[in-house]
Order: sequence, then C-alpha cells, then structure tokens
Amino acid sequence: MKVSVIGCGYLGAVHAAAMAELGHSVVGVDVDAGKIDLLNAGFAPFYEPGLPDILASALRTGRLRFTTDMSEVEDARVHFIAVGTPQQKHSAAADLRFVEAAIDSLLPFLSDADLVVGKSTVPVGTAARLAEIIQRHSGATLAWNPEFLREGFAVDDTIAPDRLVYGVPPGIRGEQAAAMLNEVYESAVTRGTPVVVTDYATSELVKTAANAFLATKISFINAMAEIAEVTGADVTQLADAIGYDARIGRRFLNAGVGFGGGCLPKDIRAFTARAEELGRGESLAFLKEIDAINLRRRDRVVELVVDAFDSEPFRRRVAVLGLSFKPDSDDVRDSPALDVAVRLHGLGADVVATDPEAIANSRRLHPQLTFEADIKAALEGADVVTVLTEWKQFRDIDPSLLSAGTDRTIIDGRNCLDGEAWRRAGWTYVALGRA
Ligand code: UDX
Repeated sequence: MKVSVIGCGYLGAVHAAAMAELGHSVVGVDVDAGKIDLLNAGFAPFYEPGLPDILASALRTGRLRFTTDMSEVEDARVHFIAVGTPQQKHSAAADLRFVEAAIDSLLPFLSDADLVVGKSTVPVGTAARLAEIIQRHSGATLAWNPEFLREGFAVDDTIAPDRLVYGVPPGIRGEQAAAMLNEVYESAVTRGTPVVVTDYATSELVKTAANAFLATKISFINAMAEIAEVTGADVTQLADAIGYDARIGRRFLNAGVGFGGGCLPKDIRAFTARAEELGRGESLAFLKEIDAINLRRRDRVVELVVDAFDSEPFRRRVAVLGLSFKPDSDDVRDSPALDVAVRLHGLGADVVATDPEAIANSRRLHPQLTFEADIKAALEGADVVTVLTEWKQFRDIDPSLLSAGTDRTIIDGRNCLDGEAWRRAGWTYVALGRA
C-alpha cells in the first residue's frame, strides 16, 4: 500500500521504516529539514536499537523516502499522524498544536478514498473533533490507532505488536477503515495478533488507560519502597513475592528512582486534566498521587547522597551513572536520572555524569554539568556513586576491581546491582526500598 507518515520523531520515524520493511511504499514527512536529511541518508536522529538497520534496508529498496514537502503525500491512500503531543507549558493538559497543524496541512491533499490514521496519544474526544474537520473538507475517513511501542524495543513493537486497536466511525465507513488497517498490518493480523475494533473514544482511552495503569504499578511498588524504608523490609523481595500471584505479575514492579520519558509522566497529567474538563476529576485524582510518589523518589536519592556526605555535599565528588530515562535509549525527556544529577549540582556537589548514549542530549539541556563518556574516569575520585539508569554496562561493573577507598558509598537507584558483591568489595551499599 502507499502510505504517508506525518511526523518523523520517535514514533513516526520508526513507524515509517517499519511500514516500508513490511512492504509498503512510504513517504515520511516532517517540518524539520535537518531530521529529514539525516533520515534520507540512513541515519536515525536518535538512539533506537535496530532502527538504523531497517532504515538502511528500506531506503535501499526505494520504498521509503522522507521529505518536508506535504504535497508528496498525494499518492498515498493511508496517512498516519505521528506527531508529538507534549505537555502544555503552563498546564497539565496535552498540547495538540502539532496534531492540528498536521491535519490542516494534510487536508488539501486528501482524496475521498483516503484513510487518515491517528497514532499520537490524544485526550479522549480529539478524534471525533478531528473527524468533523476532515469531513468538512473531504470524503476521507479518520481512524484512531494508538501506538504502544516502548523505546528501546520500538522496532519489534511496531512490526510485531501485542495488540492492534482501531477506533473507527460507525457503519460502513468504519468497516472499510478497519479493512484498510487490516491490509496495512496484514503480517501481524495473519499471525493472530488480537485486533480490537472499537469507537474513537475507546481507542483513545485504551492508550491513556494503559499508560496510567503502568505508571500506577510503578508508583505502587515505589510507595511500598517508602514503607520498606521505615520498617526495614526489602521491596525487591516483596515485589518478587507478590509478583508470583499471576493476577499481579512481577513486570513493572521494579522499585527505584521512578518513571520518566516522553510518555508516562505527560500522559498521566494530560489524562487528569482531561478528566477535570469532563467533570470527572475525582475519577483520576489518584493519578496526581501516582505522580507525586514518583517525584518523591528523586528527592529520596538526593537525600541519600547528601546523607552519605554527612549533610555537606558542597564540592564533594559524586558520580552519576545513567542519564537517559531508561536503558537502551538516549531520551532524557523527564528523566529521573538527569533530574537528580541537576539537583545535586544545584547543591554544590561536584557531579560527574556518564551514560552510554545520552550525554549529548543531556549536555544540550544542562551544559553546566560535567560529563565523562568513560565509566572508569567518571568513577575516579567519587566518594559517592549512584546508578540511576540500569544500563548493562553499569550492572556489569565488577566492584572487586574498583578501590573502595576509605568510605565509598554506592547508591543503587534502580535495585539493579548485586549489593552483596559491592559490600564484599568494601563499599557501603544503599538501595531504594531496602534496609
Ligand atoms: C511507555 C509504555 O510502556 C508504552 O507502551 C507507551 O507506548 C509509551 O510509554 P516507554 O516510555 O518507552 O514506554 O518506557 P517504559 O519501558 O514503559 O518505562 C517507563 C519508565 O518507567 C522508565 O523510566 C522506566 O525506568 C520506569 N520503570 C519501568 C520503573 O521505574 N519500574 C519498572 O518496573 C518499569
């Protein structure tokens, strides 16, 4: 099929390359000429395992191209909207400017048989409003098809999703839209991937509800960590033990410095803002608590570092291992790790931060920090070391090869290290939610 993908950020660039990989003929459009040049040259504008490979192979086939010129979408029959919906500057709500601008610039090129497919995460009610705008200008149909990809696994999640959700209008138009989407995702559909065909509102809510649930799961275990810290209990063993209950499950119960990234924080905030607009603020009031628990974990790490310096962090050297919001990503949007590094710097500590992929993005936002690409060099002379992103490179550090000095402390902000091994090597090992 001929498809266009409007917006070539994390979501769109991966989606465009994956659609071409699946055999479709794809044009990706973005307003950022620099990004388009990079993509056309086969370079991913961000770190995502597997993306450079599928970009290169799709570009070689000639089935994939990127442009800033919207008129080039005219031949396509399916148009994916994959632009960002960040948090508004002065409110918790989502900023829909990019979605609206994408639809506006697409309208002149739509034919009646076209299908516009929203993938961006939007407040419930957005698709119905956009469908009206599209119908006023053309006979094209709108479907909402939320994306559930995880950074670091984005390519696999796009090519082999665990479910497909189609929000479509009622009647024959909806049936036609679902049939077109089944054709787009033919390989996944024939493999038996569950397909949920539903209305616009449900499809929008599936995405925000899924992210709200995941955020709740993480903050739940982090709340247990807070209780463990004052009772001497061990949150990791607690998570293992409750996780054996199949109704609970162990995944997303890793206590630590909390969630960040371009999705969970802004999506739970936008969801509460939307509920308030709908007069149902109380239904999602708990998400504000989820957000607060999450942010308190950053305070806790800062507190542990300050304690390790006997309340005098000024000019004391601390190594921060990890800057990205999670491993296998260079994304530092709302990253707990970067936030903690900045706060420690603000307290006058001599912070040296390292990350396998996220130094460039961190430096752009916070040039005041000192970065060191080499882990060994970052650890040099640091009395306190804190691991805030569980990259394999950090998990694999052998403490017996590092000098413990007279009084060195390792703060495991992700419960990802072998505490015993660090203690044996002479370090004071401190972890979140564990005695
Ligand atoms: C998330 C959703 O998982 C995905 O379905 C959606 O499409 C976009 O948002 P992503 O932001 O890539 O994906 O990251 P995810 O793997 O969900 O992790 C989010 C954050 O939670 C990270 O900062 C991670 O470190 C943290 N986390 C995750 C925990 O603190 N504990 C856990 O047990 C799991």
